[in-house]
Amino acid sequence: MFLETFMILISRCEDIKSEIQTNWRYCLRMVYDLCLLFRVLMDDVQGVIKKQTVNDTVSPRSSASYYEQYHSLNEIYSWMEEITEMNADLLQKIYIGSSFEKRPLYILKVQTPKSAIWIDCGIHAREWIAPAFCLWFIGHNRLWRKSRSKHGNNRCIGTDMNRNFDAGWCGKGASHNDCHEIYCGPYPESEPEVKAVAHFLQKHKDHIKAYITIHSYSQMVLFPYSYTTNKSKDHDELLSVANKVVLAIRKTTQKMYESGPGAQTIYLAPGGSDDWAYDLGIKYSFTFELRDRGTHGFLLPPNLIKPTCIEALSGIKTIALHVINNI
Ligand code: ARG
Ligand code: ZN
Repeated sequence: MFLETFMILISRCEDIKSEIQTNWRYCLRMVYDLCLLFRVLMDDVQGVIKKQTVNDTVSPRSSASYYEQYHSLNEIYSWMEEITEMNADLLQKIYIGSSFEKRPLYILKVQTPKSAIWIDCGIHAREWIAPAFCLWFIGHNRLWRKSRSKHGNNRCIGTDMNRNFDAGWCGKGASHNDCHEIYCGPYPESEPEVKAVAHFLQKHKDHIKAYITIHSYSQMVLFPYSYTTNKSKDHDELLSVANKVVLAIRKTTQKMYESGPGAQTIYLAPGGSDDWAYDLGIKYSFTFELRDRGTHGFLLPPNLIKPTCIEALSGIKTIALHVINNI
């Protein structure tokens, strides 16, 4: 195609030359540039557009892949409606006028104390990646760890709820800096969620024989303590239970989990729920760190949900059996 056009144009160079009064060399150069300009860059543009225009019902608005697709204007309107409704404390939808074709123009205002940054996406209609960025930018942080609380004059949102329990609160392995991922909060049980759990466990501690808290990822079965490297008084028994859990998991799905006290096995991490429950008197207190070991990390693919749940259940059964035989 390229060569063909090139040859035809060259054969016309004699005429072109006289038409625009130039020499052979310049004409050749021009023909070459023209050919480059008209090279076929994409065979089936309509096909590509069709492929990129997803059926919006396929990928729900809450899924991570939603933000890796292009959406119709109507879908984007619905998305705006839903996201502002679900995050009323953070987001505000403001009508600022309408387009020539009478479609409403909205801005999404992300809560800011005073100064602001304006971002618009899609002034040019064909630049689809631009609005895709705006949606993606507003979409939730999939890797958020902490609670959503705001305390006093703190600059940042959220407390690490597994550093907020009253168990060696805010020692080594936690942070007083509210912007850190392991912020322990202004005081123990400052988070309503932590307070509620602690209150319930306290009230029912005589009935609750085991406390199991599920996290990810690392493939570990942890038990107290995490706020100190000292062994707990039930260390040997808890270690033997954790080892039995590891065995049960290996038998169920062939996955390898590690076992041990939190501080030695993963890291010093004070203010955790397992340590707090243990010190409350619930002896069989465990943290499960489920799959994987870092390949997908927190973004574990959906097809691994089932096997991960099955192995976790086999672990929980092991603990339950031990508890039944030892109380
Ligand atoms: N990944 C968990 C965390 O950092 C480990 C929890 C272990 N137990 C604990 N009390 N810190 O919170
Ligand atoms: Zn966790």
